[in-house]
Amino acid sequence: MRIVVGISGASGAFLGVEVLRALRRQPDIEIHLIISRLAEETIKLELGMEPEELHALADVVHANNQLGATVASGSFRIDGMIIVPCSMKTLAGIATGYSENLLLRAADVCIKERRKLVVVPRETPLSGIHLRNMLTLNDLGVVVLPAMMTFYHKPDSIQEMVDQLVGKVLLQFDIPFERYEPWGGLEEDL
Ligand SMILES: Cc1cc2nc3c(=O)[nH]c(=O)nc-3n(C[C@H](O)[C@H](O)[C@H](O)COP(=O)(O)O)c2cc1C
Repeated sequence: MRIVVGISGASGAFLGVEVLRALRRQPDIEIHLIISRLAEETIKLELGMEPEELHALADVVHANNQLGATVASGSFRIDGMIIVPCSMKTLAGIATGYSENLLLRAADVCIKERRKLVVVPRETPLSGIHLRNMLTLNDLGVVVLPAMMTFYHKPDSIQEMVDQLVGKVLLQFDIPFERYEPWGGLEEDL
């Protein structure tokens, strides 16, 4: 399997890192990574990490201005792309086909080639512009999977909440994630 991971400059760089770590644990996935300019800042600000530290989690790292990279072309076969976290700017760029950087172009290619694209938007509250852009993507077959908190598994930590989100993202590609707790169902009627 070959998956492109894009990390854009929305808050929640940790989500991107954890998705990368989970994919890395799988033996047969070739990971291509694109980090936007503002994501470099959130990685530094929120995680105290240098963006280069994430490079070890990918097989191939593409600079966001490298518009001639393999993943900029539909002729380069990939199984899908995950943008996590996805900023409202990147969301807007994808929804309008404005592919001015590699992250946007790779997403645009996914849509035109009818390949799986999962975006994990993070913003609150959401404006009508944000909501309309999400609906546009949904109607194009993109999976809009917002970074939502989960409670049914009774998390004790942020890590456990993040694990649930990572599991939900990987589920979109039928990739197992051992720390994901699916809903087990209730015996009684509600
Ligand atoms: C610390 C920080 C946190 C941010 N958080 C968000 C956010 O949660 N959601 C969002 O849409 N934009 C957020 N932004 C703004 C984006 O980084 C900005 O719109 C940027 O142009 C996005 O570019 P990119 O999508 O190419 O990464 C944040 C910016 C900074 C510096």
